Amino acid sequence: MEDLILQAMRARENAYAPYSGFFVGAALECEDGTVYTGCNIENASYTPTNCAERTAFFKAVSEGQRKFRRIAIVGGKQGEMTAPAPCGVCLQVMAEFCEPENFEILLAKGPKEYKRKKLGELLPCHFSLTDK
Ligand code: THU
Repeated sequence: MEDLILQAMRARENAYAPYSGFFVGAALECEDGTVYTGCNIENASYTPTNCAERTAFFKAVSEGQRKFRRIAIVGGKQGEMTAPAPCGVCLQVMAEFCEPENFEILLAKGPKEYKRKKLGELLPCHFSLTDK
């Protein structure tokens, strides 16, 4: 857990957030142990902004990964760590690939200070074309 959080903290250093000033990093652990990191990437036009969690997921899926164990997330304004929960859009992306009762979401303020949630706790229902 600690190492995954440290990787999320390192990814946060690359966050591009000149508009919100809120810097987020994520580290996604795949079933095979590979880790993909991500940061938020903002845009002058605002809506194209991509969250750290989705950056990590899209990197992983684009490399052929489909099975995931957990994701660590860190975020806050410059010099702060507030352990933000993922937004609804990111949770919907997670729900596309992960089992709600198994996939873990670590909301971290630091390597030793984190809350451990299941995807299903943060997103009890999600949109699906079939009734899962
Ligand atoms: N953000 C994330 O990267 N992940 C989330 O789950 C919530 C929000 C980013 C988007 C934006 O760049 C900044 O945080 C402020 O909303």
